[in-house]
This record gives sequence, structure tokens and C-alpha cells, in this order.
Amino acid sequence: MRRMADITPVISSTGLFTPPDSISNAELVASFNAYVERFNADHAAGIAEGTVTALAPSSVEFIEKASGIKARHVISKAPILDPAIMAPRWDERSNEDISVLAEIGVKAAQDALEAAGREPGEVDAVLCAASNMQRPYPAMAIEIQQALGIDGFGFDMNVACSSATFGIQTAADYVRAGHARSVLVVSPEICSGHLNWRDRDSHFIFGDVATAVLVEAKDFAPQSHWEIVGTKLKTVFSNNIRNNFGFLNRATPESAGSADKLFVQEGRKVFKEVVPMVATMIVEEAGKLGIDPAGLRRLWLHQANQGMNRLIAQRVLGHEASDDESPTVLDTYGNTSSAGSIIAFHLNQADLAAGDLGLICSFGAGYSAGTVFVRKVG
Ligand code: COA
Repeated sequence: MRRMADITPVISSTGLFTPPDSISNAELVASFNAYVERFNADHAAGIAEGTVTALAPSSVEFIEKASGIKARHVISKAPILDPAIMAPRWDERSNEDISVLAEIGVKAAQDALEAAGREPGEVDAVLCAASNMQRPYPAMAIEIQQALGIDGFGFDMNVACSSATFGIQTAADYVRAGHARSVLVVSPEICSGHLNWRDRDSHFIFGDVATAVLVEAKDFAPQSHWEIVGTKLKTVFSNNIRNNFGFLNRATPESAGSADKLFVQEGRKVFKEVVPMVATMIVEEAGKLGIDPAGLRRLWLHQANQGMNRLIAQRVLGHEASDDESPTVLDTYGNTSSAGSIIAFHLNQADLAAGDLGLICSFGAGYSAGTVFVRKVG
């Protein structure tokens, strides 16, 4: 009798590309404070008259205490730190050259393919799941697909910080439906491009990185893999994290330079509203899957703020989580949007044993949240 194919979706491997350059909090604050000093000097008369508000300096201590971030990797360090520029810059590339976002996505994807011993020709689809696409079309995913030599299909999807978990569920659904056997979910996150490096409240938050997750049918996957036990997605509209950039919203003389064409947030509100939403979602979903949340061996949470993760982990596990139970990569990577929980998973899963249950979880703008419960096999 012919054996039925096992199309249970699994994570076969993950990949990571980390830009070599990194900015420490001390370097970041020195540049920001040089900009503040220059601004205040240039506007000294207005400040004295009360028509211009003086800018306040940033501080290393505040950043680390408020967020847990100590450094962030970036693709274009010097212009970000130049007080006259404070934004990433690179030479414009021709349409014949691979674009920057696709280039780092390809590197992460190659890392994942190598880890699984998978040839690009065996992959059926590429999802480019990220917060900030370099352009509307042709899709970044199709450019990555072509660069890797994959015969199949690709498309882009953007669910802000939850793009990767939404991508994993989408890939898992393709596998379950028999539409694909092997799907790459690639998250190139060049967050430095949408960050307002002149905004004291948020200039320290983001970094650049690329991750990839190879989602495959169990009977096609390598022997050692992570079975996807269940996924749950949720969105609730909120303006508390917003970016108004877009070509229906181009700069006019009046709006040019408007800060909300970059990342803006009400950080306190985000903190207060998202923590209960995500903790409840995890516990409820675990219940539906018959999983005792306290028995989760490791939580790979979205990496936005250490305090948020501490609270969510505590509510899920029922006790204060150790670094082993809820590892952080915030200290060296900062917030890398949808890639954060995938980096945490990539760097902190090899030591777990067969049968161990864990949770990859994202949350962010939208609001959006995604949970991926996984069990180690092999
Ligand atoms: N350096 C020094 N002080 C600063 C500062 C800086 N860079 N930025 C803000 N402050 C000051 C503020 O002026 C304020 O001072 P005041 O109390 O005298 O008015 C104080 O620090 C607190 O500011 P606040 O913005 O309320 O800080 P916070 O403790 O809420 O921390 C965040 C800010 C953004 C780190 C935090 O709210 C957060 O991480 N929220 C969740 C964010 C998140 O997950 N976003 C998702 C993005 S994808």
C-alpha cells in the first residue's frame, strides 16, 4: 500500500544575516547630542524669544533602562552617526543590480538553505515578509526567488512587526493544503530607513538584519526539525504605532519633512495595551492546543522592549522568566521588527531536547500579533 504523504508543516531550519557594523548607545547618543547642540545654537535667538523649543539631550542610561537595548547593527553606519545627515545612505543601484533589501534577504535565505541541506531548486515559494519593502513592485520576494534560482512563486507581505509569524502561518497553510512542500519566509528588515534618528523618544529603538525560515512538509524535511503544533494570528486596529510614508502621501511643500512619514509611536500606550493582549492570546491558544503554558520550555518573544517581554513571559509561565526561558537579543540587535523573535529562535534553540515545546511570538504595529507553537523533533 502506498504511504500517505505527511504534510504536517515543520520548521526545517532558519537563517540569519547580521550587518557587520554596529552602533553602541554611547556612539548614538554622542551623535544625537551633537545634533541637539547644533540645533539649539542655530536657534538660540528663537529659543530665547520663546518661539522655538530647545531640544533636550538623549542619554545612554535612559535608553538601556527603558528598553534593554545596548547596541544595534546597521547597514550604513557613518551617515546615521553624522549629525548633518542622521539617516542611512547608499549609492543608488541600477535596475540590473540586486536591490539592498533583496541582497540581505538572499544572504539569510542561503544560510537557512545550507542549514537544511536544501537546494534552491527544491523550494516551491518565497514569501518576503517584512515591515518596510524597498519598493512596491516587482515584489522583493520575486527578486529574491530569482537571485536564488527558485522555480515557483513569490510575493511580499507586510504585517509590520508580525510579518514573519504571519508568513510562517501562510507558509504552513500552503504546506497543509498541498500547494507547496517547501516555502522560504524571508524577513529583510532595514529598520534604519524608517526610523527618525532625530527623535529623542525613539532614535535608539531599531536596527537592521535579515532572517529566513524554511517551512516544509514533515516527510520532506530533514530528520531534525521543529514541528509546527499550532499558529494563531490576531489584528486590532491602532494608531499608536504608525508610519504614513507612501506614494499617495507624497511630501508637499507643507508636509515636507513631516515626522510622521517615518516611524512614530505612543510607546507607553503600546506597552500598556499590547502586553495584556498578547499574554491572553498565548494562554488561550495554548489551552486550545492542550498545552500547559507553564510547561513551555522556551519563549522566543518579539524583541521590542525588555520590560514588555518580562511581563508577558511572567503571565504565560506563571513565574519570572530566566534568560534561558525567555532569551533576549535586544541588547545587541535592538528592535529589528519582524525579525526579532526569529533571531532569538535562531540563536537559542540548538540546546533544546526532542519533545521540548516552545513558542515563537510577535507583536507590534496594526496592532498585530502572531503565535507559533513548536515541538522539537529528532
Ligand atoms: N534620553 C533621555 N530621556 C528620555 C529619552 C532619551 N532618549 N526619551 C525620553 N526620555 C524621557 C522623557 O522625556 C520622559 O521624561 P519626563 O518623565 O520627565 O517627561 C521620560 O524619559 C519617560 O519617557 P517615555 O517616552 O514615557 O519613556 P518610556 O519609559 O515609556 O520608554 C519606550 C519609552 C519607547 C522605550 C517604551 O515606552 C516602549 O518600549 N514601549 C513599547 C514600544 C514598542 O514595543 N513598540 C513597538 C515598536 S515595533
